[in-house]
Amino acid sequence: MNKHEELAVGRRLIGHIDGRTTDLAADLFRNRVAAYSCPARAKLERERLFRERPIFMGLSTRLPKPGDYLAEDVAGMPVLLVRGGDGAVRAFANICRHRGAPVAQGCGNARAFVCPYHGWTYDEAGRLLGTTDKVGFAGVDLATHGLVRLPAVERHGLLFVRPKPVGPDESPSIDIDADLGALMPDLVALKLDTHPLHSTDRVNPRINWKFAVDTFLEGYHIPHLHRKTIAPYFIGNVGTFDSAGLHGRMCVARTSIDTVRPLPEAERNYRPHVIAIYQLFPNTILIWQVDHIEVWRAFPGRNDASHCEVELAIYKPHDTDKPDAYWEKNRDIAIRTVLEEDFPLGERMQIGFESGATEEVIYGRNEPSLVHFHSSIRCALGVAA
Ligand code: FES
Ligand SMILES: [Fe+2]
Repeated sequence: MNKHEELAVGRRLIGHIDGRTTDLAADLFRNRVAAYSCPARAKLERERLFRERPIFMGLSTRLPKPGDYLAEDVAGMPVLLVRGGDGAVRAFANICRHRGAPVAQGCGNARAFVCPYHGWTYDEAGRLLGTTDKVGFAGVDLATHGLVRLPAVERHGLLFVRPKPVGPDESPSIDIDADLGALMPDLVALKLDTHPLHSTDRVNPRINWKFAVDTFLEGYHIPHLHRKTIAPYFIGNVGTFDSAGLHGRMCVARTSIDTVRPLPEAERNYRPHVIAIYQLFPNTILIWQVDHIEVWRAFPGRNDASHCEVELAIYKPHDTDKPDAYWEKNRDIAIRTVLEEDFPLGERMQIGFESGATEEVIYGRNEPSLVHFHSSIRCALGVAA
């Protein structure tokens, strides 16, 4: 957020605290529990939300140097993201054109990718450089057997991939400015490209992927579920919400916000007291945690509505003089709150949904981010419920 926006959000939060109010959705929203448990719905989401749209892959600092790469499965598509010698980031299906083995694993730096199965070799632009048995594969045209290209973009320190092969007449680029719309200026102001990666953690909770996102979209539960962890630091059930197309931004106040009150409006610095939670549709939560960036990405299970994979990434400022132990402490708080409080409860809720005893859940008007998220899903899927 820029200064002007920070002041505006700070003012809205103080107004809500004083008036015992919060930003409200237009109406209550009822969602079918089947949205969290039905295999047909899960399949539709994988096809429409995780194939057709740009998916956030992390900050640019995950691939700082030429040759840096990152391989991960995005809702069933093995993706290889590489920074080439020309500095450009490209994405490929991580599938060898011989018999389909992944040509790279995890992350690292490489001049070429040598398939572990029979040694076919590809360069950083996905070109097949050579096979290992010239006689056996005589007649295979190297030029048409490169890795399958996926659309990708790097913009303002953000990396996105659309996990669907580029069509014959299609550009391998993505217009992410248009997609993120009003959210982009906010994200640019965060200078995301100056935040190197500190840590990543991956877990596989037994919850639908949307639960993992829902967890971050309301502050209503903080005083209850997080009584013993983060509740003393936040003002529960008070927040602002602004939508940007399918995406959104929710801001919540730390209890320390009261310290700005003695200052005149124009001199107030709300920045240390406001947490901005950006929802990058469909599956990413990027949190501006005042002195660092915390990113959660949730991916649906491959064939299962009841499982997901969640990655937590912590990015710290490049010019910090704080020791690693400080960032570890932040990582630990995030893990204790989300992985030990939110997700275990979510697993119980998932069981309840699958029991068939109830048909719907209700998102309150005081949970506008949740209402927007689930409305956006329906809109992107083209379904009424
Ligand atoms: S599957 Fe890659 S070389 Fe055989
Ligand atoms: Fe929570």
